[in-house]
Amino acid sequence: MSKQSPLPIVVLISGNGSNLQAIIDAIHSGDITGEIKAVISNRAGVYGLERAQRHGIPVEVIDHTQFDSREKFDAELMQRIEVYKPELVVLAGFMRILTDNFIRHFEGRMLNIHPSLLPNFRGLNTHQRALDAGVDYHGCSVHFVTSKLDGGPVIIQSKISVLDNDDVESLTTRVVHQEHIIYPLAVSWYCTGRIKMNNNQVYMDNKPLMQAIMADELPIKVTAK
Ligand code: GRF
Repeated sequence: MSKQSPLPIVVLISGNGSNLQAIIDAIHSGDITGEIKAVISNRAGVYGLERAQRHGIPVEVIDHTQFDSREKFDAELMQRIEVYKPELVVLAGFMRILTDNFIRHFEGRMLNIHPSLLPNFRGLNTHQRALDAGVDYHGCSVHFVTSKLDGGPVIIQSKISVLDNDDVESLTTRVVHQEHIIYPLAVSWYCTGRIKMNNNQVYMDNKPLMQAIMADELPIKVTAK
């Protein structure tokens, strides 16, 4: 069988880029059959750009404050992404609400990671909201991006227990650790064609996925802590 060629990926970031780093590392170790063609940030000077440059990945900054509407920013972003002809767009801490046009254009080939067990706590400040709600479990989810904010179909989730003495910082640390496990895994499945989305439904190995995969239920243990 001929070796599969790496899938072209563009990653969008706004900040630290630790999920970007986890994906870069998984490409280097051969766990993801993909190639990051560019990293695009809507903010200049963020650490994620440095991470990309260190690995020789082209970077671009498209500063959203220079656009007088969301539509104009998204149109420019779409155009600049398409230069790299990606087959997958990965949102890795990209802190922008995207317009329907943009989402429709990339629908079925755009993934996001969200720091909660969706459908709980869509939107911002998820760790504080989880603490305020007194939930026993919290975590993170990788999903396809659709026009419903943080509402696209979920591929995989990882769950952590919320402890009595947890605060936002401790939850962030444990959840981000899980993000770095499940995001590369979902990207690797996408790159080999194992997961797809059609009509808002995720398919895994050509079968409809009736509920999100839970990381701790996978045959190979992927939760380290
Ligand atoms: C992560 O917690 C992710 O879930 C959220 O933004 C954070 C990004 O972290 N969407 P990083 O930039 O990947 O370090």
